[in-house]
Amino acid sequence: MNTHLKLTVVAAALLALTGCRQSQATAAAPTGVRVTGASDVEAGRYLTVVGGCNDCHTAGWNETGGNVPDAQRLTGTNVGWQGPWGVTYPANLRLTAAAMSEDDWVAMLRTRKDRPPMPWMNLNAMHEQDSRAVYRYLRALGPAGERMPEATGPGEPARTAFIPIAPPQAPR
Ligand code: HEC
Repeated sequence: MNTHLKLTVVAAALLALTGCRQSQATAAAPTGVRVTGASDVEAGRYLTVVGGCNDCHTAGWNETGGNVPDAQRLTGTNVGWQGPWGVTYPANLRLTAAAMSEDDWVAMLRTRKDRPPMPWMNLNAMHEQDSRAVYRYLRALGPAGERMPEATGPGEPARTAFIPIAPPQAPR
């Protein structure tokens, strides 16, 4: 695998000028930083590894120390995450990408706000070209696997195994 990935810092000078206060207020705004690789597919693969997407969206990723073939990656996990929002499931991103255009994918990653633990605020800050790279990697892998279960709403009982992530209450 080609590992000649370079980080290109386009807006470092601009960031330095904006100062701390403004950069906090615009934490989710793209900074101009992006990843390049031998191909967009390679860059997308890299982004999904270092961006943590496999941690939640690839079954067995954590258990095997990341030893999951590309063919099985990012097909979702059917163990839910439970909190005040209900129970959510890391989606099958291969099917999601297969069902939408690249431009719609880019717009979704840039603007969507949704339930935890999906870190939408992180993706909202992704460079457009990086979003395209992730999409092209997912499309290169192609559709595979099943749709994950529908999320349940607040207070509804879980229909599958789940991981509770509501903070524990302090003892009185
Ligand atoms: C901590 C776990 C976690 C991590 C890390 C994570 N996700 Fe998710 N993701 C989820 C969950 C859970 C959902 C479903 C949220 C819901 O139903 O509201 C989701 C949903 C999504 C969706 C919506 C899919 C659809 O069909 O609606 C996209 C796109 C997505 N994630 C992309 C990514 C990408 C790209 C990364 C890596 C940069 C990533 N996720 C990292 C847990 C995670």
